[in-house]
Order: sequence, then C-alpha cells, then structure tokens
Amino acid sequence: MSLEKLQEKVGTQKHLLDFWNELNETERDQLSEQVLSMDFSACHAAFVSSAQPPLPIKELRPIPDERHVIKAHLSKDEVENYWNKGLNAIAKGQVAAVVLAGGQASRLGSDQPKGTLPLGLHISPQDSLLGLQAAKIAKLELLAREAYPDCNGKIQWLVMTSKSTDEPTRKHLEKVVPEAGLLLEQVTIFSQDNIPAFDMSGNFLLADKHTITTSPNGNGGLFSAISKYLPGLDKRGVKYVHVYCVDNVLARVADPIFTGIAVEKGADVLTKTVERKPGELVGSVCLNDGVPRIVEYSELGAELESQKAPNGRLLFCAGSIANHLFTLDFLKGFCTPSFHLPYHRALKKISYVDANGVVVKPTAPNGIKLEQFVFDVFDLSKNFYIFEVKNEQEFAPLKNAESAGVDCLSTCRRSLANETRRWLKESGFVLPKGLVTYIKADETYAGEVFLILFPKICKDPKIKPSRWASFEEAYRPTNRDREETALKCLNREKRPNCKNEQ
Ligand code: UTP
Repeated sequence: MSLEKLQEKVGTQKHLLDFWNELNETERDQLSEQVLSMDFSACHAAFVSSAQPPLPIKELRPIPDERHVIKAHLSKDEVENYWNKGLNAIAKGQVAAVVLAGGQASRLGSDQPKGTLPLGLHISPQDSLLGLQAAKIAKLELLAREAYPDCNGKIQWLVMTSKSTDEPTRKHLEKVVPEAGLLLEQVTIFSQDNIPAFDMSGNFLLADKHTITTSPNGNGGLFSAISKYLPGLDKRGVKYVHVYCVDNVLARVADPIFTGIAVEKGADVLTKTVERKPGELVGSVCLNDGVPRIVEYSELGAELESQKAPNGRLLFCAGSIANHLFTLDFLKGFCTPSFHLPYHRALKKISYVDANGVVVKPTAPNGIKLEQFVFDVFDLSKNFYIFEVKNEQEFAPLKNAESAGVDCLSTCRRSLANETRRWLKESGFVLPKGLVTYIKADETYAGEVFLILFPKICKDPKIKPSRWASFEEAYRPTNRDREETALKCLNREKRPNCKNEQ
C-alpha cells in the first residue's frame, strides 16, 4: 500500500504517518494493515456521539416490587423450587455461561489477565479465578446429573477475551479445562473488538511509531462478538445465558436459582443486585420513563440517591453487580456482527508517542477510551426482573492492587473465607474464631453438600467435638462412606424424568 493511499485513508489523522520514513518494512506493513482495517469515519462518529450521555434521563423510578425478587424473603421451599428448575435446565443442556474476560485490568496493574492470576488458595485448577469457575461448572453438571440421571446436559462455557487477553487466557484454559473435567467442545473462546483511543480533542494516538492505540470496546462489545455463536448454542438447545464478570471470586456461575427464576417468571432479562447503601458508588437498576436501565450514582442526583422508601431501605436500593441472565431468544433478537450500543467515555491515562517520537507516560488522565456497557441492552427487554442477593455471599471483585485496600486480592480471599465459614456454620460446625478455611472448588457449588452431609456427621456421638474444631482436620479423612452418604442425601431430590419438568 502506497503512502499516498494511506494518507487518503487516515484523512485528518495525518500524524499517524509522521514516522513512516523511520519504519522498517515489517513495521510499515503492520501500520498499513491497521490503518486499512479501521473505519475512520465510524470511529470519529463514535467519538462525537459519546460526548452526550448515551441514554438521556427522564423520569426515574425504582423497579416495582412484583419484579424485584429478594432471596432473603423467599421461603426454603421457594428457593428449592427455583434451584430445582434451574438444575433441570442444566440437566437438559439449556444453560450457557459467558464470562467477560476482555478487560485491561488497568486498576489492578497486572500484565496477565485477571482470570489467570494465582489466588494463593490452591482450591481450583491452576489456582485461578477461571479455574474456580471451571470447577463450579463441573460441580453443577454433576449435581444436575445426580438429580436427573437420565440427562447428561453440559453447560456451554463461553469466554470473551480481547486482543491483549486472548492468548494468555487461551493458554491458561488449555490447562484449566481438562483439569476441571470439562470437555474442550463445551468451551468457546472468542475475542471482542478493539476501538481506537483518543486524545481530548478526538485525535487518534500512537502507542509506538507504527501502532495506533486501541482498547477493547467495552464489555457491551459482547453482543456483536457473540453473534456468530448464537446459532450453535441454539442448535445445542441452549435457552438461558448467564453473563458474569471474570473478576468476582464469589460468582455463582450458571446459578440454578437465578435460572430457575427466569424459567418460572418467563423473564427475558434478569439481573442480580445487592442492596445499595447511602453513598455507595454503584450503579442502580431502575426504570427510566418506564424502561429498565442502570444509572450511575452521579446520574441519580443527591436527592434520589439518599431517598428512603417506607420500608426504611433506600428507594433506589438495587445496586448492580454486573451479573445478568438473558434468554437466548432475547439475544437472537438483536445480536449481529455490526450491532453496537452507544459509547460511554472514560477518561484515562494513555501513553502516547509525541511529535518528537518520544513515548510519554502521563501522570494524569490525558485521553478518552470509548466503552459499551452490557447493561445498556436492558431497554430491549420485554419482561425484566431483578434478583436481590446478599453482597457478602455473591460479590467480591478483584479490581485493585493491594495498596488500595478494597476489592483487591486479600479482600477477595477474605470474602471467600467468610462465605465458606457461613456454609460450614449453617452445617453445624463450630469453628474457632479466626480460623480461615476454604473448600476445594469442586467439592461444593455454594455450600450445598455440606448443608446436607455434615449436620449428620457432626451429630455422631463417637466423634469428639474438638475434632470438628478445624474444618481441614475434619474433612481430610474423607472416605467412601461419607461420599456415599452425601450422594444418598442428594439423590432424595432425584426426579424420575428430567424431560417432563418445566
Ligand atoms: P471493569 O470495568 O472492572 O474493567 O470490567 P477491568 O478491565 O476488569 O478493570 P479496569 O477498569 O481496567 O481496572 C468489568 C468486567 O468486564 C470485563 C472485565 O474483564 C470484567 O470482567 N470487560 C471490561 C470486558 O470483558 N471487556 C471490556 O472491554 C471491558
């Protein structure tokens, strides 16, 4: 490609070719290829339109009570009913899980994708978040098979990466998937698109003399990227698609209760929320002019942000945790390779090559990245529900480096230890104060095996209570008998024919 042709293509962004004469042949090829692959006018239009808030705020109202399912308010029977419905859908192969793993983890500052980092827990394949999730998927499939022995449904696991996370994530999953006992054919890895980053005036930036700076187009890039896999999912009989973030150590991947609610209510979109507390900087799920959406803390405004409902909770109490369930039919209704959502602007520190060819690393935000958000499709829903769970039971994201002291590795580990403790306490264990325990990820999905198995064992008078003081000590002598007791308990839930269930 001649320089003239490239100059024509870049239009007003001529500075991208400033160092052409200094590039070797390979570098010129790389830059030409990147320039040719980009739609400059579409990128410019995205930059201009992102200056306005994507969805103007009109009249905000909370999600009505009849569409707000609160787990803590459900009876044991209701929870069990939802769980069984979700497990049945898994047994029939109707459930897929999509993990959003294309983010750049800039706050964490890691050069490896978040999902692949060692957690230091050693309870899952490769000791990583992705390993934890793979083990939970395998465990759920087992529970579904035990409950519905005539079905052998698999959970399809789709992993969305981006240009920078794709290769290391693939390499990592090559080990994780077989170690977790999943089949390679149930795992699909695909990459979202990148979009150029801009300076404050809308000019493209150079990362080095032959590379235009780009970044992943936001987790809402999911919908175009996944579009070509939807027919395959349809063919396999998938009906429910759980979409979650890679960085939540407490993520209940393909949660049967979540799915069960979608099955029972006929919801096309369902999102998990946690109770928002005053001043918390989380997005709130609400209705804008009658249409579901998430508004940022700042968009709510001081008055609505702190307004109380008659029950004493915040009126806008539905805090988003980026954990959604879509029906496949809903996704099929709009996902195409060219689909895109409105872009949001994020001010970032972006390294760039200055006019002298020197790479500058800014200390304050100097540029703009454009991002689409998964939740911006909520307004397409025809039957929208929220499912409120407890923050401490289901949400502990890895966002920051240790120095931040919040949402970092140590807080993730602590949250998982606390949740494990809760499971064990509910099973009748008396654990010494301060004892930190974890359970191997493939032993339990969310404490359910222990709730069934251990209350029985703990009551055995031949076993001294002190032996139960430490979970690790108690669990190490696991033998066939105990496993069989657990299976017998589980099998009480067995359904004769999964195909007959709704
Ligand atoms: P975050 O917004 O927390 O971004 O993503 P991040 O990349 O993990 O971290 P920062 O903001 O750079 O520090 C929430 C989820 O969405 C995914 C992330 O991988 C994470 O699971 N994500 C984000 C994508 O899959 N693609 C994107 O373009 C952005």
